[in-house]
Amino acid sequence: MINFKEEIAALLNETIDGLSAGEIMDMIEIPTDSKMGDYAFPCFKLAKLLRKAPPMIAQGIAEKLQGSELFDKVENVNAYVNMFLSRKVFMKELLSGVIEMNDSFGSSDIGRNRKVIVEFSSPNIAKPFHIGHIRSTVIGNSIYKIYDFLGYDTVRINHLGDYGTQFGKMIVSFRRWGNEEDVNREPIKTLLSYYVKFHEEAEKDPTLEEEARNVFTRLENKEPEEVRLWQWFRDESLKEFNRVYEMLGIKFDSYAGESFYSDKMENVINMLKEADLLKESDGANIVDLEEYGMSPALITKKDGSSLYITRDIAAAVYRKEHYDFYKNLYIVASQQNLHFQQWIKIIELLGYDWSKDCVHIPFGLVSLEEGTMSTRHGRVVFLEDVLNRAVNQTKDIILEKNVNTDSLDITAKQVGIGAVIFQELSNNRIKDYVFSWDKVLNFEGETGPYVQYTHARAASVLRNGEESTNHALAAFDQANMGYITGDSAYELSKLIYRFPEIVAEAGEKYEPSIVTRHIVNIAQGFNKFYHDEHILVQNEDEKMAKLLLVYATKQTIQNGLKLLGMEAPERM
Ligand code: ARG
Repeated sequence: MINFKEEIAALLNETIDGLSAGEIMDMIEIPTDSKMGDYAFPCFKLAKLLRKAPPMIAQGIAEKLQGSELFDKVENVNAYVNMFLSRKVFMKELLSGVIEMNDSFGSSDIGRNRKVIVEFSSPNIAKPFHIGHIRSTVIGNSIYKIYDFLGYDTVRINHLGDYGTQFGKMIVSFRRWGNEEDVNREPIKTLLSYYVKFHEEAEKDPTLEEEARNVFTRLENKEPEEVRLWQWFRDESLKEFNRVYEMLGIKFDSYAGESFYSDKMENVINMLKEADLLKESDGANIVDLEEYGMSPALITKKDGSSLYITRDIAAAVYRKEHYDFYKNLYIVASQQNLHFQQWIKIIELLGYDWSKDCVHIPFGLVSLEEGTMSTRHGRVVFLEDVLNRAVNQTKDIILEKNVNTDSLDITAKQVGIGAVIFQELSNNRIKDYVFSWDKVLNFEGETGPYVQYTHARAASVLRNGEESTNHALAAFDQANMGYITGDSAYELSKLIYRFPEIVAEAGEKYEPSIVTRHIVNIAQGFNKFYHDEHILVQNEDEKMAKLLLVYATKQTIQNGLKLLGMEAPERM
């Protein structure tokens, strides 16, 4: 597809001496008010170079550009050249581009041969997969999809929290108060109750903590009985997590979690020693980071057991060796900012220049209208329950609104779960937000159901004009773009045109909400077009041209929804 801005820069370059095409490119503006044209070129800076008054320069340029087929109109207003693209040329170029690329419209190959690791979700085993985990899971999945679409070679890693002293606690608690049947029947809820019980009892009897530490050391030493219990808890947890991943349509390439690094820690400790970074403090080993304005990083405890941060250092070193990544991305809550700053600094101090390629992508908190959660006290809202509730409520809405669907169950799932994902990806990720049922399932606001519904509406128009749609697609060259040059058609098409740029920007900023907001704009633009114009008109040429625009809109919304990890229902 033509890059219109580049094309304009080239034209301007022919008329102006003394500036490079690149410099001109940087000077071209996109006016916020479309009455000032699609592109504008300010001439103030040229006064010195050309020894002329800026309005005169603008006038000269405007006159020269007027003859170009690229424009419907070129005006000079004060010192600006305002350019109005030829709507026909623009439409033809855009629609042929979208139709040619279809599913891949918006994609690119800028990431070719570059490996990007996207680490996300990473829940802790034997603990509930609760609503707080939705953020990393859904934001991470979308970032993965965006990078994949941009042509990167992606690896999805679930860095499971499957190691650490809490497993000592779990095992102690299980041995004292638990039994196998309960765990088999309802694994996570039961294990959670053990965890809660442990903390209650440990308040009365502090020696339990000591006992738990010893059990974890036995696990680290690979004692068969501890390993068996740990493995069992892990398997049962993964079964539950996978149910949620399946509902969300999320997959991973690797589940190498914290335990995977248990035998790779010694190497880290040796490297730190060799680099003279390790200091003894009270029997424990630390890396002093005072110089960098951070508290010390605790690498091994008094009893020699390793810590979360040690495993992250080991994981990064392993990933570099194993994957030779271009970028290693971590989608983890902003509460862990310090943790990431610390260990990435340590990687740098070890002399690895690739420390700059390890990127922590933080996000804010999600809270519930109903109040706060606390794992220790057993007050949790399970993500699975939230997703099920979203699906059930959507079913009610569909029945109540008498929405036409292929299958109530499938549509309710696509829309209900999509709604939760969409809300999650609507705001800048760093913002805290309150999970609100009213907002999630509103079909009219800037929500998932609204965008999906708009997609289904476009699909329905295409179905109703099926023969003409097929004909228009097959004979694209004969399409008469003159029928789709009205303002609402044109505003809509400009939004579609920007989609590839939007995807690239979302990738650069690790910000899926840029895509979310843009497809809301496209949906609104489409609904305005739908409202302003009759699409399935008598005149066949007019109908076909309009259907092409509907087709391109539908494809773009669909591609956008896919990048968020959502389905695009054909009917609803
Ligand atoms: N399991 C951790 C938690 O639930 C998140 C892990 C984040 N990833 C990492 N490489 N540290 O808090």
